[in-house]
Amino acid sequence: MRTHNNGALRKKDIKKAVTLCGWIHSIRDHGGVIFIDLRDRYGFTQVVFNPEHNKKIHEESIKLKREDVIQVTGTVVLRSKDTINLNMPTGEVEVVVNQLNVLAKSKTPPIEIDEFKPAGEEARLKYRYLDLRKTSMKEKIEFRHKIAQSVREYLNKQDFLEIETPFLIKSTPEGARDYIVPSRIHAGKFYALPQSPQIYKQLLMMSGLDKYYQLARCMRDEDLRADRQPEFTQIDLEMSFVTEEDIYSIIEELIKHVFKTVGKKTSTPFQRISYTDSINKYGVDKPDIRYGLEFIDVTDAVKYSDFQVFKDVIKKNGIIKCINPNKDFGRKELDLYIEYAQNIGAKGMAWMKVTKKGLESNIVKYFTKEIQDKILKTTKAKTNSTLMFIAGHQKRVHHVLAELRKKISEDLKLYNPEEFAFCWINNFPLFEKNEETGKLEPAHHMFCKPKEGHEKLLKNNPEKVICTQYDLVLNGIELGSGSLRINEPKLQEQVMDAIGMNEKEKQQFSFFLEALSYGAPPHGGIALGFDRLVALLIGLHDIREVIAFPKNKAAESLVDGAPTFIDEQLLKDAHIKNQERQLDMN
Ligand code: AMO
Repeated sequence: MRTHNNGALRKKDIKKAVTLCGWIHSIRDHGGVIFIDLRDRYGFTQVVFNPEHNKKIHEESIKLKREDVIQVTGTVVLRSKDTINLNMPTGEVEVVVNQLNVLAKSKTPPIEIDEFKPAGEEARLKYRYLDLRKTSMKEKIEFRHKIAQSVREYLNKQDFLEIETPFLIKSTPEGARDYIVPSRIHAGKFYALPQSPQIYKQLLMMSGLDKYYQLARCMRDEDLRADRQPEFTQIDLEMSFVTEEDIYSIIEELIKHVFKTVGKKTSTPFQRISYTDSINKYGVDKPDIRYGLEFIDVTDAVKYSDFQVFKDVIKKNGIIKCINPNKDFGRKELDLYIEYAQNIGAKGMAWMKVTKKGLESNIVKYFTKEIQDKILKTTKAKTNSTLMFIAGHQKRVHHVLAELRKKISEDLKLYNPEEFAFCWINNFPLFEKNEETGKLEPAHHMFCKPKEGHEKLLKNNPEKVICTQYDLVLNGIELGSGSLRINEPKLQEQVMDAIGMNEKEKQQFSFFLEALSYGAPPHGGIALGFDRLVALLIGLHDIREVIAFPKNKAAESLVDGAPTFIDEQLLKDAHIKNQERQLDMN
């Protein structure tokens, strides 16, 4: 239907007869001559309807509207000097039209296909097919495609096999709630949609396929945030006969390859930080290491002060930590930070300014010279800086200081937004305590292999077990997570016991334990959040911007209205009893 796309024509094409197709992006009438910017995925071309050139077609062109889809045939000519637009690749030429074919009319679009006229989020999602017509959105989709191909290119070269795993599965224990699908054939039974291909990729290693990858769609029914969608994509991979080092190196090389493909820089090897160090220094297991501002523990230094708040906290086994932004904050700024700390859960925030004369603040009178010296020594603080202290239970102190660290880094612009700082967090505990139930749960998932020698702690000291989990963190965001896996049924069962699974629950995984019993190779792998990677590479945090058809914050698909009530008969077929509520709503 077309000889060229709308990004193709140049000066060298002058005098050619061409046929173009596309959407009408804009219409301008200059003294009776109509200029239209014709748009498609590849760009824009100016097409001209001149009554002196062709009266009939010019008359037809008057009826055209924005977003109508047309086909035009005409001749490429050089634009007059004053209309040349060097910002457009096709900006030196235009097409004088002598044939017009209207392929589809458009109603007035409810959102503007214009970068500079942003629409509301809900409208953008409802009319996503219009939103995606925008150049900026099209570029994000193209960028995502480029990264996907780059990932495939690298992994294929490393001998990985791309293998699809099923969508209708038995529930996998990844920690979120499953989306479930009723079975028509097996009354009362359900499939689950995969939260990740975890079990299947391990089965593929037991099948001897050695290296697997997949750009895997995962479904999780969990609360949504800017970097979480109910459906998302992982770069999921698994390898046999590997050590942790092998995984680090394959992922670092993969990231290097992807970065090279899109012209970005990062340096390898990535820094490695143990889970404990990360929590102690940054309060979180996904630190942004583009800037310092690490926590300093001063509990020991202030142990014998007369400051009642600190005394009480120490008595209750709490801790006191501070950060030093190396800045002489004024009282007003400090008051704002105190308010901020209180809003995120701190009782208060103590501060001390470091001046030429020593420490100064409303509370230094409670600290002897000796203790003040100890504080200075521990914090290595220099003149003209401010120490900001949070005291309390460890968890709360870490939470508040982590948020404060982030806020100060933004306020003081402590990092370069263009930088990509990766780090590995490793040596995670295998289990964590669920604060509500008091029960142990896998910190990552129950297939993680304990570190060598830690298996023997499983029975009596499970909380002390360190495992082979490693997380990949980019600029403070968890990009990926993985581990070496258990490859013996006995050890797998011990882990199930440690998290208190009863026989019935274990029975659910008997197929997996059986698979492990026929000779499972040592194996390990990782999954990287593909949407997060694409978004971060573009400099965005909201992964919806890089997903063609994302859900809104309420997990609704506005473009088609899902979830919806379902046809009575379908429910009956699936052996689901109707809810009265549904009848009411209908
Ligand atoms: P995990 O659950 O940590 O590990 O997921 C791996 C990575 O997937 C991304 N991710 C998400 N992205 C968008 N929306 C979500 N709701 C969402 N949830 C997770 C994150 C995360 O780091 N099977 C294991 C991996 C393994 O052990 O190999 C797993 O799925 O970037």
